[in-house]
Order: sequence, then C-alpha cells, then structure tokens
Amino acid sequence: LFSFIACQCLAQSNTDESKVQPYTLPDVLKMPDGKRVTNSREWQLKQRPYIYRLFEENQFGRFPATKTAIRFRVMESDRNALDGIATRKQVRIWLHPSDSTVYADVLLYIPNNVKKPPVFIALNFSGNHTVSTDKHIALSTRWVSSRAKGGVNNRATEASRGADTASWQLHTLLQKGFALATAYCGDWETDTVTGYQTGIRTTMKDILNIQPNEWGAMGAWAWGLSRIVDYLQQDKAVDARKIALIGHSRLGKAALWAGASDQRIALVISNESGEGGAAISRRWYGETVKIINNNFPHWFGAKYRTYGDSVNTLPVDAHMLLSLIAPRPLYVASAEDDKWSDPKGEFLSAFEAGKVYALFGKQGIETDKMPEPNQPVGETVRYHLRTGRHAVTVYDWQQYLEFASREFGK
Ligand code: GCU
Repeated sequence: LFSFIACQCLAQSNTDESKVQPYTLPDVLKMPDGKRVTNSREWQLKQRPYIYRLFEENQFGRFPATKTAIRFRVMESDRNALDGIATRKQVRIWLHPSDSTVYADVLLYIPNNVKKPPVFIALNFSGNHTVSTDKHIALSTRWVSSRAKGGVNNRATEASRGADTASWQLHTLLQKGFALATAYCGDWETDTVTGYQTGIRTTMKDILNIQPNEWGAMGAWAWGLSRIVDYLQQDKAVDARKIALIGHSRLGKAALWAGASDQRIALVISNESGEGGAAISRRWYGETVKIINNNFPHWFGAKYRTYGDSVNTLPVDAHMLLSLIAPRPLYVASAEDDKWSDPKGEFLSAFEAGKVYALFGKQGIETDKMPEPNQPVGETVRYHLRTGRHAVTVYDWQQYLEFASREFGK
C-alpha cells in the first residue's frame, strides 16, 4: 500500500513543504569500497570519475568520448557592431567531416575596449536572432517551438528578432568587459520527442560511435557546448581560460552536465535548472523525476526513466552533479515564485556540494538555512533566491557578472 501511495504522489507535484518526506542523500564522499574521500587527490583520481560514470549510467546517458574533426568558418563579422562597442562574429561549426548540412551557428559579441576578455557561453531557446535586436544576426532557419515569439509554423520570422533580449542583458555584459558566445540548442537537437531523428544523435552516430538511444537531448546540448569551447580555444580575441557557462531551466540542466563533462569550462551558472539539474530529486517538491520523464522522454538516458516510482534508489542526486564542477566556481540560483524548480532543493544541493569544495580548501555556502530573497550567500559555491518568477533577469545578471569578475580576478 505504501508504495502505491508513493507512486501516486510522484506522478503529481507537491508545493507544500510540510508534505516533504524525510530522505537520505547518497554520501558524495563515500567511495565504492566504503571508505570516505579525505583529500582532493583521491577525489580527482577515484571518486570524481566514479560519480561521473554513475551520472552517465543513471541519468544523462553516455557522453561521446570520440574526438571529431570539426571545422569553423567566420561567416560574417563586424568590428563596429552595436554602435561600435563590440565586434560581432557569426561562426559556423561544421560537425561532420563529410556531411556539410550538419552544423551549428555561433553568435559572438566581443567588447572592443578589452583585450582578450573572459567569455560567457550559453545556449539559447529559440535562435541567435532572439538575443539582440541587431538586424545583422542571421535569422535561424531551423524548427522553433510554437511558443517562440514571432514564429509562424515553427519557423522564426523578422518579428522574432530580439524576442529574448531581456534574458541576455547584452550591453551590460559587454560594458562589464565580458564577451558572449551563444548558439541555438536546436542546432544540435530540436526540443521535441522526435528531434533526435534529424539532430546530431542521428547525423553524428557513426562519427561519434554512439547510438541515438545511448544519450539524450541534454547530452546532445552539452556536447554542443563543448564544441563552442573548441572554437573559442582557437579564437585569439577571447581568453579561453576564462569561460563562464550559463544555462537557464532545461538549458541549465544541460549546462551542469556540460560543466561536469568538460573541465575547460572555468565557471558554471545554473539559473533555475530544477529537476534533473540543481534540485534534489529525493525532495518531493515541484517537478519530480516521474513527471519530467513523462513530459520530456527525450531529455535523459533510458535508465533515468526507471526511477520515476523509486527515486530513493537513484544512486545519484543533484548535489553530486554540482560536486562534479568542483573546484571551479559555481553559482546556483532560484526564484521565489518558481516552485516548480524547487528553490529549497536547489539551495540544499548547492550547500551539500560544499563538502567537495572543502577538499580543495574552497568555501561553499556556510549554513543550510535558506537565505532571504535577494541575499546571495556563499563563496566559490554561491546561491541566491531572487524574488519573482522563472526567468533570467537584470538582478540575476548583476550577481553573475560580479561573481565572474571576482572569480576571474578582473
Ligand atoms: C518545463 C520543465 C522543466 C524545465 C522548464 C524550462 O517546466 O518541466 O524541467 O526546466 O520547462 O526549461 O523552462
């Protein structure tokens, strides 16, 4: 009977804190032989690879290890973009050695008054042309969600330009001396159940030596982020040792997996990534493993779908995903009205990840008491609960730019 009740619950979402059942988190420092990790060397050499594999097996599926010969070309550039404050580049990354239809387009803005600036990388939800009203940005020709502003029959139109400028704060970012590199997640895989059929999980399967069902859309997006890093490493106009990755919501989940998978990424920001991202899955609050897999069966690996009714047997949880970012700076953020993402679950996993940062002599969040809204806490692991809804706002960017400036010693 008890398990029957549990099953019923997990298919529903809860937003009543008093109904959250006690749970026990897997101990991130407990090694397979039962001993506990005591130093950073042991973490890096043994425990980190072990936990990483647990995530591959149980949540995200495989991350392709095969190196591919990708090619880049700057398709367009202008040193006088945005009234002269930045250089714009539009770079095409060809992912497949012989099929020239398999590519992704990266939009870059580099501030003109800074030599080799640090760079924010991010995927966007509906095309590069949504990031700014700059008319020179190529309009995406891919499928876009029917929720995308200005879209007609799932295609962008001129009315889609600048649809999402509020989430980017491009001018502020450039003024603070950062570059931005962004690409449409749909260039790797469109966000639909059948998106994999035309995305890289299919077109790259032979090259990457991996079948489409061995990973999910999250993996494809995360892998795509690493290809942006590949490009940046050979673009001398930016400092590729200072790459900050930011992702919001579903793209925040992908960002955490990319940050865990690619240690060239120097700083990671999860903006309201919620279930499958920064939020503790074992906490029955907001979205659940069962709900997310029902609604988005294409996002994660197949095994993740088997934990819908038995989340307590999942060998991993969000605090372990965040720990894979250590010792690199990590910022986790929630919004008060975004109960679906479980703010407290995001805070608690960020707090827990501090145990791994401590092995490196880095300070995480000091107390497990949830901070008041708009009161950022923590050092190398930082957290805030913003007032308001599910979004990336001016307030969020202010915190992230300050954090990245401090961590990058700017
Ligand atoms: C849905 C989904 C979330 C996701 C969000 C988003 O609400 O359930 O897991 O984070 O979409 O990407 O905006």
